[in-house]
Amino acid sequence: MNILILGSGGREHSLAWAVKQNPKCDRLIVAPGNAGIAQIAECAAIDILDGDVVATFAEENAIDFVIIGPEAPLAAGVADRLREAGLKVFGPSKAAAQLEASKAFTKAICDAANAPTAAYARFTSAAPAKDYIREQGAPIVVKADGLAAGKGVIVAMNEQDALDAIDDMFGGEFGEAGAEVVIEEFMDGEEASYFLLVDGENVLPIGTAQDHKRVGDGDTGPNTGGMGAYSPAPVLSDEVAAKALNEIVIPTMKAMKDQGMPYQGVLYAGLMIKDGQPRLVEYNCRFGDPECQVLMMRLGGQALDLMLACSEGRLNDVQAQWADDHALTVVMASNGYPGTYQKGTVIKGLGDLPETSSEYCFHAGTAEKDGAIVATGGRVLNVTARGATLAEARARAYAMVEQIDWAEGFYRSDIGWRAL
Ligand code: AMP
Ligand code: GLY
Repeated sequence: MNILILGSGGREHSLAWAVKQNPKCDRLIVAPGNAGIAQIAECAAIDILDGDVVATFAEENAIDFVIIGPEAPLAAGVADRLREAGLKVFGPSKAAAQLEASKAFTKAICDAANAPTAAYARFTSAAPAKDYIREQGAPIVVKADGLAAGKGVIVAMNEQDALDAIDDMFGGEFGEAGAEVVIEEFMDGEEASYFLLVDGENVLPIGTAQDHKRVGDGDTGPNTGGMGAYSPAPVLSDEVAAKALNEIVIPTMKAMKDQGMPYQGVLYAGLMIKDGQPRLVEYNCRFGDPECQVLMMRLGGQALDLMLACSEGRLNDVQAQWADDHALTVVMASNGYPGTYQKGTVIKGLGDLPETSSEYCFHAGTAEKDGAIVATGGRVLNVTARGATLAEARARAYAMVEQIDWAEGFYRSDIGWRAL
């Protein structure tokens, strides 16, 4: 089977790594890929936001199955275009991807499904939004409706910050994404991510994880795309996960189907858990990054079988086989991230790292230059390990981090603290 993965981050490197382990995979191409991915797959520099380009490329390369990694091509309708061309695709339609692309859409679906989530109101102009904030008081959460690269959410601990966020959003700080604003009740509790495959009809849980969004140790400093993750997340116990499945995920997936937008692909449910009760924070229509890296390390080659079953509407026939193990990933980022950072700094020591089914360094933002690996992004490496316990996985991951020689990079030294 010839497989094409779209994307260029650590998430896609881990997807490629898992897919390659499955004997069904004959040829693997990742577009556009990165320097780490290039060590295990062919890379192709094509515009993955253009459905026509991807469809033509897939036909020319006799691709049997396309896995779409990031949200941008999904929101641009690339999955729809590929399905029209008769290709087998893992990833939701443009209509179903609104679950991530529009916060107001997701709130409306939760209403239709009666799924527990924060109380909210929607606004298209500043004055009534500010009245609402003054009426509700702080803490309160202000969200740009559309995709804003993870930056469109302001958790305001005082009223003034919330009012300022309204001015920023309607002042155009997030462009089109901020033309509509959702204001939400602040939810207290512990956050965790729940990953499920959905084939339009059936829902199959494939794992839990916890991310570390703040840049600094002890969950301090600004928000990032995620500085590390581990799986499983103890807060998502079997009981809490069953509640999330039955009260949130299954009813919303049924509402999507009833409204003519059956969901097909991986569903990432961001949950807030308090006193054993989960509530939905957000849906994403893709794997989390870096959560995918720990899920793939735990699933290995069966990930391909599960994604194929998902795209063929066969999820009722398959099960995820979980070992009783733990995985943890440490993100190494360029100094200055999530603010401005230098590009092109040289990373040494990668060649000596172990590469086993329990230890692997996935690349997020790297390129090869004159035979050296250089950093090209904010988040650059995802040093990932698996173990019988979380403590063992963590010790292995940090031992690898120590081997990496990169003066212009940094990492959090406390990944996994909440569970340990
Ligand atoms: P989102 O982009 O919706 O995931 O929001 C980003 C982050 O903001 C989440 O991961 C939460 O930490 C926080 N957040 C979002 N909505 C709420 C809420 N209603 N209450 C508390 N925190 C929230
Ligand atoms: N790590 C958070 C995300 O992928 O959205």
